[in-house]
This record gives sequence, C-alpha cells and structure tokens, in this order.
Amino acid sequence: MPSYAKFDAMRMIRTLLLSSLLAGCRSDPVGTKAIEQQLVAELGDALVQEVKPNGRVREYELVAAPAELGVAGEAKLSVWAYNGSVPGPTLRVRLGETLRVKVTNRLPQETTVHWHGVRVPNAMDGVPNLTQPPIAPGATFTYEYTPKDAGTYWYHPHIRSSEQVERGLYGVLIVEDEAPPPYDRDVTWILDDWRLGADRQIDPRFNTRGDLMHDGRWGNVVTVNGRTDEVLEVRAGERVRLRLLNSANGRVFVPMFDGLAPKIIAVDGKYLSRAIDLDRFELAPGNRVDLDLQVDVAASARFEVVDRFSARRPNRLASIEIDGVLDSRQSFPSPANARVPAWRGYERAKIDQEINLDAASGGPFGLEWRFNGVAHAAHDHHQHAPLMVMEEGVFHRLRFINKSFRLHPIHLHGMFFRLLARNGASVDEPFFRDTVLIHAEESIDIGVVPLDPGRWMMHCHVLEHAEAGMMTTFEVKPSAGF
Ligand code: C2O
Ligand code: CU
Repeated sequence: MPSYAKFDAMRMIRTLLLSSLLAGCRSDPVGTKAIEQQLVAELGDALVQEVKPNGRVREYELVAAPAELGVAGEAKLSVWAYNGSVPGPTLRVRLGETLRVKVTNRLPQETTVHWHGVRVPNAMDGVPNLTQPPIAPGATFTYEYTPKDAGTYWYHPHIRSSEQVERGLYGVLIVEDEAPPPYDRDVTWILDDWRLGADRQIDPRFNTRGDLMHDGRWGNVVTVNGRTDEVLEVRAGERVRLRLLNSANGRVFVPMFDGLAPKIIAVDGKYLSRAIDLDRFELAPGNRVDLDLQVDVAASARFEVVDRFSARRPNRLASIEIDGVLDSRQSFPSPANARVPAWRGYERAKIDQEINLDAASGGPFGLEWRFNGVAHAAHDHHQHAPLMVMEEGVFHRLRFINKSFRLHPIHLHGMFFRLLARNGASVDEPFFRDTVLIHAEESIDIGVVPLDPGRWMMHCHVLEHAEAGMMTTFEVKPSAGF
C-alpha cells in the first residue's frame, strides 16, 4: 500500500478515536464505547485505504437487449443479454484506474445496473428511484467511478431483478491489484441455474407463489458460464486463480473439487487474512470466492467439480482436464494476507439494530417478505424512512433474526462486514463479506464499520424474496469527526 494511504488511514483512525473519546466517556458507564473504539482501531488500514485515481480511464459499453443464444444446453434460447452474450462481458479495471460504462437499454422495460460489492459513490449504485432514475427503454446512462478495492465483483440490473437476472443479465467485474499475483491462469466460473419449461424456453412465470413460499426460483438446468459442459484445461504444475460467482436467483451452491485441494484466497472480493481450505463453503446468491488452485497431479487426469449443497441430488458443474506438464513452475506467496480484524470482544459492544425476517400474506404476489414487519414494494424506497442510521467510521453490531424456515442471503450495498456469530455462538471467519446466508430460524450478528456516506440498500439476494418486499434502505451519515 502506498504511504499516503497509510498516512490517511492512521489520521482517520486517530480522528475517530479522539472524537469518540470526547463524545463517549461521560455517558458510557459500562464501557461499550471503549470496546467499540477498540474494534474500530483493530480495523487499522483494512478498509480505510484510499485509492488515488491515476488518471487512466477504462471505457466500456453495455447494451442490454433480447437475444437468441446457445446457452443452458439449448441451441437457441431466448434470453436478455449484455452485448449479446450470457454471461455478459467480463469488465476489467486496475486499481487506481477509473471505470466508465455507458449502458444502453434495448429491453422492453426499464433497467439499471448495480455494481455488487463495489464501494461506489452512492449516486453510482444503480438503485432505481433512490440513487438514479430508471433507464427507460431506448435510453442510456453512464456509470463512472474509481474502485477502492481490488477483487471479484459483478454487475446486474436492480429493477425487476428476479426476471432480468434470470433471463441472463449479469457479468463479472474484476478489479485487479496494482501488481497482480502471477498466476498461470485467471479463470472465472459463473454458476447459475435456469428454469426451462416444456418448450425448452425460460419459464415466463416469475415470482410464483411457490417461489415465494420457498427459497426463490430454483431451476432445472445448472450452468457454468452459461454452459452445461464447461471444461477447464490446464497443465500439471499450473497455479490457477479461479473466481466463482453465484448469479442464481435462489439456488445455493456448495462446489466441491473431488481429488483437488483448492484454497480460498478471497471472499466477496476481499482477500482473507490467511488462505483456508474450500470445505463445504456455501456460495449463496451474490457470493464470490476466489480459489488458489495448485494443480499438483500426474500429467493426465480429469476431475469433476460437483455442487453438493444437497447430498441426495448433487449437480455436476464442470470438469478440469489436465493435459501436459508445465515446464517452469510459479512459486509465490498466497495473496491471502490481508488485515482482517478478529473483533473478539464484540459481545461487549451494544447491538445497534435488531432486524427480524418474516413473511405474511398480502402484497402484489399474495405473500410478502419483511424486515421488521415492513415489506417494501419494489421501487418505492424513497417513500420509506431508512430502517436505521449508522455513522461513518463507527463500529456497528447488527443482529438478524430469521423467524422463517427459508434461506435468506442478506446483502448490504456499499460496504463489507464480518460475520461475528451464528445463534449466539462466535464464528471466526478470517474474511469480510458483502452477502451472508442466514439459515432457517437462525440468528446472526455482523459487525460493520461503514466508510461511505449515503442511502444504501439492504436486501435478501433470493431475488423473489426481494421483489416480494425483503428490501430496505439504511443511511450512513458522515462522521462528525471529519
Ligand atoms: Cu447483487 Cu442489491 O444486489
Ligand atoms: Cu430471502
């Protein structure tokens, strides 16, 4: 990290400590303020590094339009696609560069583009009627920002997402490190599923009662990069960076590499503090994992990668074929050595907000999903007060209580958080997330230090649950100390 960033980080932490000391001490007999200050200090420069734009601009154009493509095992599937491909093009930008993306809407309905996991300025977040007006059919909108964190992100519409994402609108955004680790290969696998009808086309019934009562729309065809027969060909001795994204509406994947031993180096874009084994990691809708795959096997072999979320009904995802031997092997340290706070002692911080998750009958689909008893109609966020207000640079502990039997991958826009506990028992994940899966009747605690002011969204990434109300907003107000 360049030294100016370190300096900024240290200055910011000092300011925070000072301002909360001045504000906190007298009114804080039990010492929760003190522990909260300690938790912010532990963060160190983990998230507060500021990237200086270097003046270089990467320009892309995305055109969202209907198309007929060979995807999901069909010769001609009627989809909605960015630039005529599903998944859409992979956008790459290097840390320090500015990304400029001109989006044109040639769909029969409004759209927007959301940059999932990216700490964007609020106005670039792609939330209709909150951060921008919807992009009407025929219209364009240009997104422009300088990413603050390297990693694997993705983009997708934020209007009628349960339909638009399901029809094929999504793609990956890779923010490269200033000096990327020298992997032999950098590969992206986008995991998705499709519900095709008897006519072998996308079933046009969206947000059905069945989808809403269960974990959203689970399809009958599973694909990797739009294909049912994806094969990765490598040579023995290669070291591969394999980026996985779950772009499905509702399905959770547990990818297992039988016979190979990949390590997780990043989750939801951010590097871990140490690499860990990929061991039944639940890749919920919206989640990404970056794997460090060292192919230490004989010169010719074939491995299957299988989704084992359901033990009874595994899904074949892709194969890895080893052919030939690499002559000169790469040896470099794992990039998973980021600073991630342990945040032990979080139990003594107060719970800033409890958020109950449940369902009730009513609403446009007959069933509503709610945060604290309120369902948001899809596009009226500006008409609701924010669910909570958080302060920039301050540690917050949030508790989510799932009062239902369904799965809810909860996603916060514009920030990273760390999972602290499940059902009251501390968990020690050496990484940040932007999306966390909450299981049936489970409660979880997360810790977050918001760093970007604005009105942000929080929603379930089971897109049918979100459409049926499980969306809300919260406000991050600028710190008094700045
Ligand atoms: Cu990927 Cu608001 O979501
Ligand atoms: Cu949900």
